[in-house]
Amino acid sequence: MRVLVTGGAGFIGSHIIDALIADGHECAALDDLSSGTPDNLQDGVRLFETDIRDVDGVAKAFSEFKPQWVCHQAAQLSVSRSVADPMFDAQINVIGMLNILQQSKDANVERIVFASSGGVLYGDVTEPAPEETPPNPISPYGVTKLTGELYLKFFVREHGMQAVALRYSNVYGPRQNPHGEAGVVAIFCEKMLQGEQARVNGDGKYDRDYVYCKDVANANRLALTADLKEGFTAYNVGTAVTTDVNELAATVRSESQQWLKDQGKDITVPEPDHGPARPGDLRSNVISYNKIQNELGWTPKVNVAEGLKQTVAWFGERIHA
Ligand SMILES: NC(=O)c1ccc[n+]([C@@H]2O[C@H](COP(=O)([O-])OP(=O)(O)OC[C@H]3O[C@@H](n4cnc5c(N)ncnc54)[C@H](O)[C@@H]3O)[C@@H](O)[C@H]2O)c1
Repeated sequence: MRVLVTGGAGFIGSHIIDALIADGHECAALDDLSSGTPDNLQDGVRLFETDIRDVDGVAKAFSEFKPQWVCHQAAQLSVSRSVADPMFDAQINVIGMLNILQQSKDANVERIVFASSGGVLYGDVTEPAPEETPPNPISPYGVTKLTGELYLKFFVREHGMQAVALRYSNVYGPRQNPHGEAGVVAIFCEKMLQGEQARVNGDGKYDRDYVYCKDVANANRLALTADLKEGFTAYNVGTAVTTDVNELAATVRSESQQWLKDQGKDITVPEPDHGPARPGDLRSNVISYNKIQNELGWTPKVNVAEGLKQTVAWFGERIHA
């Protein structure tokens, strides 16, 4: 099948493309490269460099590539930017998404998979939240992710396409941008592998559900290809296991120290310090994956210890190339 992956030059989108190509699908990326890079794309993948809000740019991609499926990953994903500038957030996450949906409908796209977020929909939860948990977004970013799901339901009902919303927990792994606010693992790797002191916000006792990027790519692969019982379905994609930021920092630090030693580098990784708490940070967020396991057969394959080891090695090879 021909699959157009918006945000395909980004972190998660490029792993999805790799997984789909391995299955024999033909993929193209649509990306404005605001945080993504063509370096994330394997050879031969066509890149349509355009903003999802650009009607003509998106139309060109649809008419030239003729996608049968669309995987919508492109987004404004900074919670703090959404708070500071909710109009900008909505322009990309609502208007841009509507442009993709409308043009998908016009091009008779059969199925759309959308990157939603369990973290922002369920809020502070200490037990793995199932999909029925009432949505309670407290940031404009959360509001636009929920809005995206509601628009998907509308397009399914009105136009007969199929759609899946995947509500990711905290995704980490190779290619994550260390300059954003969300990628704490990437930020720690970037600092620690250079022997710099990383900073933990507040007391670090913030529990999160970290899911490895290749597991998330596999969930997208299944959501695109599986037989679906309903026109619209939302699935959580997480591990139901929590790690707090102090534990995460300690593991990235010891893996970084080991990696540097193995490479013969005389660099000592200092312990992280603690900065001020970030206003509004949830104390705990964790999601259940029972539904996607039962219906699509997905389970997380890479645990945090293994995923962090692989991520440290990937960043180390690039930083010390
Ligand atoms: N990383 C996480 O932990 C996480 C958690 C929940 C949901 N998500 C969602 O997953 C998706 C992918 O996120 P990611 O972590 O890979 O981030 P990312 O920044 O690496 O990827 C987003 C991609 O979209 C592109 N993009 C941004 N705005 C665009 C626009 N207006 N037009 C065209 N392209 C645009 C960027 O250049 C980038 O390549 C996003 O929708 C995000 O909201 C991510």
